Amino acid sequence: MMNQNRVALATTFVRVVVLGVYVLIPYSRSVVSPISVLRRRKCYSPFTRRLLSAIPPAPICLESMAEEAVLGYLEKNEEISDSGKFAEEKGINHDEIVNIIKSLNGFRLVDAQDIKKERWVLTPEGDLYAKYGSPEVLLFSAVPPEGITREELQEKLKSSIYKIGSTQAIKNKWIEMGKSQVSRKVQQVDDKVRSLLIQIQNGEVVSSEDIDALKRRKLISSQIWKGYSVKKGPKYAPKRKKVATDLTRENLQRGDWKELEFKEYNFLAKGQPTEGGCLHPLLKVRRQIQMIFLQMGFEEMPTNNFVESSFWNFDALFQPQQHPARDSHDTFFLKEPSTTRRLPEDYVERVKRVHESGGYGSRGYGYEWKREEANKNLLRTHTTAVSSRMLYALAQGPFAPKRYYSIDRVFRNEAVDRTHLAEFHQIEGLICDRGLTLGHLIGVLHDFFSRLGMSKLKFKPAYNPYTEPSMEIFSYHEGLQKWVEIGNSGMFRPEMLLPMGLPEDVQVIAWGLSLERPTMILYGIDNIRDLFGHKVDLSLIKRNPVCRLGL
Ligand code: PHE
Repeated sequence: MMNQNRVALATTFVRVVVLGVYVLIPYSRSVVSPISVLRRRKCYSPFTRRLLSAIPPAPICLESMAEEAVLGYLEKNEEISDSGKFAEEKGINHDEIVNIIKSLNGFRLVDAQDIKKERWVLTPEGDLYAKYGSPEVLLFSAVPPEGITREELQEKLKSSIYKIGSTQAIKNKWIEMGKSQVSRKVQQVDDKVRSLLIQIQNGEVVSSEDIDALKRRKLISSQIWKGYSVKKGPKYAPKRKKVATDLTRENLQRGDWKELEFKEYNFLAKGQPTEGGCLHPLLKVRRQIQMIFLQMGFEEMPTNNFVESSFWNFDALFQPQQHPARDSHDTFFLKEPSTTRRLPEDYVERVKRVHESGGYGSRGYGYEWKREEANKNLLRTHTTAVSSRMLYALAQGPFAPKRYYSIDRVFRNEAVDRTHLAEFHQIEGLICDRGLTLGHLIGVLHDFFSRLGMSKLKFKPAYNPYTEPSMEIFSYHEGLQKWVEIGNSGMFRPEMLLPMGLPEDVQVIAWGLSLERPTMILYGIDNIRDLFGHKVDLSLIKRNPVCRLGL
């Protein structure tokens, strides 16, 4: 019984103390009071609920003070001409006033006009001089009437004060600096710099010559002050009515929805941007090029093997085993599995022979061809490896003309810079038929590139181990106003085609280009790392246009 009484007494005591705190705090100026936290969280115990219903909301807050000041002033006066002066007169922080003006202006209760003023503020160095005096005066005071040696004077002062002070004091003709002796030239000096700095600190007006001099010594700097002039707006009222933004369950229960004024819907407000899947620019351009190939009657080659043997990537293409591109500086070789398991043996034999001693009218390279080199696995360096597999497969059946294309990834051991990555996408097209000439290649290239919006083309002789003749392709870019290299092309060599088993009167014309280059030109991207890889900004992918025509 005793115990129960004690517990009840203790509980009442705690409640009284808590109540005291709750009642007092809302009336204090504290912006976040425990009571407002409780109100916001809406997780009341029955006790707290009773407590809250007994306490009216806190009447004083800084915001409402500033708002009352602005609206109240405009009730009796035409205009607040300068929010800065107004804030000072009312003893309210200017930022507070500015926030309120912005909000009232948004609701058209007031009409606010920007005012900008340039004003001068002291730099940290200027601050020091205003406090302790200018270095020239400090230095002058350190020179006794009978003079002092340079060393002694230097010892008395901080080195920066000595340096600046002596230059200024000499300029002012206050002191004379002999070889060893420093002496006064005047009896007394005035610290004009210090008094000017103090005047500026106090917002007093200072002549423009003085300002210039202080500016030159970097003792003051200009600062743009922003404020407002304010008039009544079209919806002016001496008091802003708080409008409700939501109809809540509580409004319905209490029935106060009948008196509430609701905020109007803003049908012009922008909604949240919708999140949806977006295609990367490379995918979009790839699709566009794919469609061009399909329209021109091309079939897609299977490119689903990044790992390739040196044989298909190089040897089958009549690329000698000593070729610098076959070095690990240029090509990524695989450690595991490091070699290929299967190659068509009779074809390998023919390739070996054409490299070593030629045939089919060729002299070959005249070196000892090594099987181990051909077996090495690598990440394919071009999709021409896929073309060589396809042409070999084609040669195994009765001949039929073909148009093949592919767009996929290739890998090169390159130094990464603005225009190069160690991997990129290659676009490749080839036509295999009887009686094809260089003229056909040029014609097909004109057809293909003009469908991409590039109709002005130029060709430059080039070299590839697997094509003869070979041509680099240039296109005139109207936007960039210059010729840009867009691809490489040629007619596959008989040394490549005949060992495969293709008929002698069959030629293959082919070309290749990167997918990244036209995409970068189309999307105005000048750094490849912005287009591909881990540094890509996702907003580039989200915000680019759904479709773009021409290059
Ligand atoms: N394989 C060449 C390259 O990587 C492109 C090319 C393809 C050139 C077909 C000629 C013929 O640049």
